[in-house]
Amino acid sequence: MGRFAGRVAFITGGSRGIGKAIAELFAEEEAKVAIIDLNEEALYATANELKEKGYAVYAKVADVTDASQVEQVVKEIVDTFGAVDILVNNAGVIRDNLLFKMTDADWETVMDVHLKGSFYCARAVQKYMVERKYGRIINISSTSALGNRGQANYATAKAGLQGFTKTLAIELGKYGITTNAVAPGFIETDMTKATAERIGISFEQLIQASVAQIPVGRTGKPSDVAHAVAFFADEKSSFINGQVLYVAGGPKN
Ligand SMILES: NC(=O)c1ccc[n+]([C@@H]2O[C@H](COP(=O)([O-])OP(=O)(O)OC[C@H]3O[C@@H](n4cnc5c(N)ncnc54)[C@H](O)[C@@H]3O)[C@@H](O)[C@H]2O)c1
Repeated sequence: MGRFAGRVAFITGGSRGIGKAIAELFAEEEAKVAIIDLNEEALYATANELKEKGYAVYAKVADVTDASQVEQVVKEIVDTFGAVDILVNNAGVIRDNLLFKMTDADWETVMDVHLKGSFYCARAVQKYMVERKYGRIINISSTSALGNRGQANYATAKAGLQGFTKTLAIELGKYGITTNAVAPGFIETDMTKATAERIGISFEQLIQASVAQIPVGRTGKPSDVAHAVAFFADEKSSFINGQVLYVAGGPKN
């Protein structure tokens, strides 16, 4: 039997990259999976892929920065699958720029998606989790939380998510709900492809430059992050709460 048999996992930004890998792994391990995303085409492509493999999937185009959409989605997940046991706050964006060039919109968009989005989703699921005295909340942070040139907005948001994680761990622990964060380093996704484009080098060049800094001598794959998320989401991880796990092939990067 899969590790998540009988569980319902809600993954934001689940249509591609890291979120898709998390949805796939959870579905393989027998969770019912709910994914939302702004990218309609990628969302339904992923949902159909999973359904073709026989997995139970809920998918909806929704924006994590809109509280009423998030509330509605969580209600629909519970109506469809009977519960929401696992939340993965994965939806993310970058708007990189050096401080002197960073616009108000660059700052606000990144804060809204990562912080407001995670807040809305956690607030919406907690009432169902508290009722059932069970939950796993996993927030996707980043090694950028430790500081990263060109990412004052993103680094601040990802560090903020770590404080959010530790606070939810304290508030919700007594209800059987654990909250942890996974902080990836360089993972090969569309997000890092966009970074290569922005700095004017090929994705291969960016990978090579990154590998030189990574102790295990390779960049990360979305599945590397999914495995770490599954570790926190496991029922047996009930004494692990408020932790940040760096998944970066070394202590940073
Ligand atoms: N790729 C990396 O190297 C890396 C490293 C550390 C952390 N992360 C984090 O991992 C998470 C996933 O990143 P990824 O690399 O897979 O990126 P990605 O761009 O491939 O995927 C992010 C997904 O989030 C969705 N999304 C964005 N805004 C949304 C919103 N308002 N509402 C709903 N969905 C929204 C996007 O449409 C996209 O499908 C992000 O939180 C990112 O910050 C990525």
